[in-house]
Amino acid sequence: MKLNQAICQNAKPKDTPSFSLVIHGGAWSSFEILRASPETYVNNLKLLLEGARQMLSNGASALDVVEYCVRQEEDDPLHNAGRGSIPKKIDFYQMDAAIMEGATLSCGAVAGVQNVKNPISLARLVMEKTNHVLLVDQGAMDFARTQNVDIMPDTYFDILFLKDNQEKHGTVGAVVRDMHGNLAAGTSTGGVFGQIPGRVGDTPLIGAGTYANNQTCAISCTGVGEDFIRATLSHRVSMLMEIAHMPLQDSMENSMAYLRDRTNGSGGMIGVDRAGKVCSAAHDTSMLHGWIEQGGRAEVSWEPSVSV
Ligand code: GLY
Repeated sequence: MKLNQAICQNAKPKDTPSFSLVIHGGAWSSFEILRASPETYVNNLKLLLEGARQMLSNGASALDVVEYCVRQEEDDPLHNAGRGSIPKKIDFYQMDAAIMEGATLSCGAVAGVQNVKNPISLARLVMEKTNHVLLVDQGAMDFARTQNVDIMPDTYFDILFLKDNQEKHGTVGAVVRDMHGNLAAGTSTGGVFGQIPGRVGDTPLIGAGTYANNQTCAISCTGVGEDFIRATLSHRVSMLMEIAHMPLQDSMENSMAYLRDRTNGSGGMIGVDRAGKVCSAAHDTSMLHGWIEQGGRAEVSWEPSVSV
């Protein structure tokens, strides 16, 4: 297994008042990147990183920046989330999202929603306005209507499908460490191609596809969700750091190997630790991702960062 060493090096000391973030555009993203123009993906991600930099420099919270980044990706039809969510069949799609903050372990999630422009914001409302963690299907939609969220017509989501009925990937997510030392993670997806209506993947399941804990790290995953659920993968990374005192990179590498060996799963994940060190790990896949470490330069890569 080969990790993306480039972004796992040179983190500054733990107490540096700085910010770090990583954003991903999903596993197996090279297919879409090659079909569209790679420049478009790279430029969009760099713009997003610079927007996040401005917010974080001004003292924005990790939670706000995670929501901002994932919203922007949901609005970009190049990704399989929000507007670009892959249809399960003609005129039918479902979306899942989760958000978590590491200071309090507060979290919110939605699954199987339709017509919601930004499921990540609905997930945050579940976290902040209810006593619950996860709302699904009709209940989540009823809750959405009681909140001031944008509800869009089906045609808003159909746009890519009408042009191009092919398999598509690209769950999106972000992990952030803000200037105050707080961590947050968020993930959003249109699911997997050909899934049975009602199927829920790892994205909205806290500890599977999304997790944040100020004592350890923030993680967002992408891949075949069933395997990430079996491996409770994002929580596993955190537990290895907390209990076995592994650094982020070792913990992510160990967890990706566990996913492969125990579930035959594949995909990737992004992470940031409490010191602002960032890392990406994947196997058997490309993974579009961009990062800023300790307020440094914005970087974007879609090359596979791990090979098995
Ligand atoms: N990882 C996204 C999904 O399986 O739904």
